[in-house]
Amino acid sequence: MTHVAAPLPDGLSQEQMDAEVAKVQAGTDGAVHPPRGFPPYRSSTLRHPRQPLIPVRDPEAVELSGPAFGLTDVTALDRDLTRQHAGEPLGERITVTGRVTDRQGRPIRRQLVELWQANASGRYAHQLDQHPAPLDPNFTGFGRCLTDDEGRYSFTTIKPGAYPWRNHVNAWRPAHLHFSLFGTAFTQRLVTQMYFPGDPLFAHDPVLQSVTDPAARARLVAAYDHGLSVPEWSLGYRWDIVLDGPSATLFEEDR
Ligand SMILES: [Fe+2]
Repeated sequence: MTHVAAPLPDGLSQEQMDAEVAKVQAGTDGAVHPPRGFPPYRSSTLRHPRQPLIPVRDPEAVELSGPAFGLTDVTALDRDLTRQHAGEPLGERITVTGRVTDRQGRPIRRQLVELWQANASGRYAHQLDQHPAPLDPNFTGFGRCLTDDEGRYSFTTIKPGAYPWRNHVNAWRPAHLHFSLFGTAFTQRLVTQMYFPGDPLFAHDPVLQSVTDPAARARLVAAYDHGLSVPEWSLGYRWDIVLDGPSATLFEEDR
């Protein structure tokens, strides 16, 4: 998601936007999951369904006519976004790893995990992203892997830059990685974002702030883990994903 479909800034300053976010959050009555439409996140109002969702009564029938992937489609190279081109991408090399579990901590095995992101300058390799920051010919920004027997996923990539997104005047997204997870079928797709610890933009980002419960927001932020840093090579971050239950990672659509 590049957020380029957002409307032009409506003239609100960051201070006015922060006040609007605080006002909306105060009215959420402790809801953990964000609403589908969060007005301060302007383009969210255009994205969520306005009609009642159609229940899928026979998921297997849907799968018969839907896309499919095979375990052999995913190669070991797909998880390393720094090795997809002739040269190395610019930026701070990082490794990101964690476990995908259910609410009881049981590993979710053979889960397809997809990642997409902006480059180190905060630019997506997408024609709709016209942010005046340089593209990197050695970085596409897409990777995928399968979880192992312990539910672990792992990516090597570069830390993305923050980018402007026109939600309001001087609106900047904190650095983030987009994640998609599939269960046993495409109809079970879940999409979310991972953030980096200590980012000063957290408080000013209506996307992250649409998660109105502070504890739930915190679960979207990875932890720097020095034990995961590779000497002379990369910095390590750990981010675990819980698919359901009271400690669930929040995804971008109510379930
Ligand atoms: Fe993004």
